[in-house]
Amino acid sequence: MKIGIIGGTGSQGIGIAKRLAIAGEEVIVGSRKEEKALEVVAEAMKDIEKYNPSTIIGMSNEDTAQKSDVLILTVPLQAQAPTIKGIKEYIKGKIILDATIPLESAIGGNISSLLHLTPGSAAERTAEMLKEDEAKVVVAFSNISNSLLSNIPEPIECDCLICGDDLESKKVAKEIIEKIPDLRVIDVGTLNKAHLIESITPLLIGLNIKYKSHYAGFRITGVDFDKTD
Ligand SMILES: NC(=O)c1ccc[n+]([C@@H]2O[C@H](COP(=O)([O-])OP(=O)(O)OC[C@H]3O[C@@H](n4cnc5c(N)ncnc54)[C@H](OP(=O)(O)O)[C@@H]3O)[C@@H](O)[C@H]2O)c1
Repeated sequence: MKIGIIGGTGSQGIGIAKRLAIAGEEVIVGSRKEEKALEVVAEAMKDIEKYNPSTIIGMSNEDTAQKSDVLILTVPLQAQAPTIKGIKEYIKGKIILDATIPLESAIGGNISSLLHLTPGSAAERTAEMLKEDEAKVVVAFSNISNSLLSNIPEPIECDCLICGDDLESKKVAKEIIEKIPDLRVIDVGTLNKAHLIESITPLLIGLNIKYKSHYAGFRITGVDFDKTD
């Protein structure tokens, strides 16, 4: 399975790319400019070569979308609509894991505050833009900081909350994300829960700022996730 990361040259995307390449996945990193993708990928491969990774490939976002089976969207909110518009024709029926967080900083505000959107979340905006393309949107990687992702080879002892309307896509998301050591996926339900997941990220960013850290994350306790209704 080829996993394409749209906007994969940023800190979140390249962190995910490195972790998945170390796990042996076929990863493509996309950029608005192919040359940038190639440069960022070459650096990333140097960083992780001692872990015997699979080779990460760099391409334009359009080629990445076309050649991948599953996509991960890691662009800032202000880039969400133009980026999706640019790759829309290649997404039909594909699974798209959306890490976009509506931070107030997208409009010049505070990085630890949430921007309230209509529909209620960045992921629902993605789904709305792709509704004629039968793309299956799953919220994923939203609460996992780039610092944790790039802290290789340390495991990521956190929960990664996901939600989405298609069960099979959530299974695929879980299989991919749990390739990263210790990261545990928790399915919180349908896509209309996305705003709840997305709102945790500015909270974690605020904690990092307040307590001078980069590694805020969380684990849910007290629930046996093998028991479902
Ligand atoms: N960083 C984290 O710790 C973290 C954690 C959880 C969720 N997230 C979310 O994940 C997403 C990516 O985060 P990030 O920190 O990696 O973001 P970023 O570095 O600001 O941007 C990621 C990539 O998006 C593209 N991009 C940036 N501005 C753009 C624009 N105006 N138009 C089109 N493309 C643009 C760039 O790729 P090219 O120039 O190569 O096209 C850039 O390398 C965000 O929505 C963020 O909220 C981040």
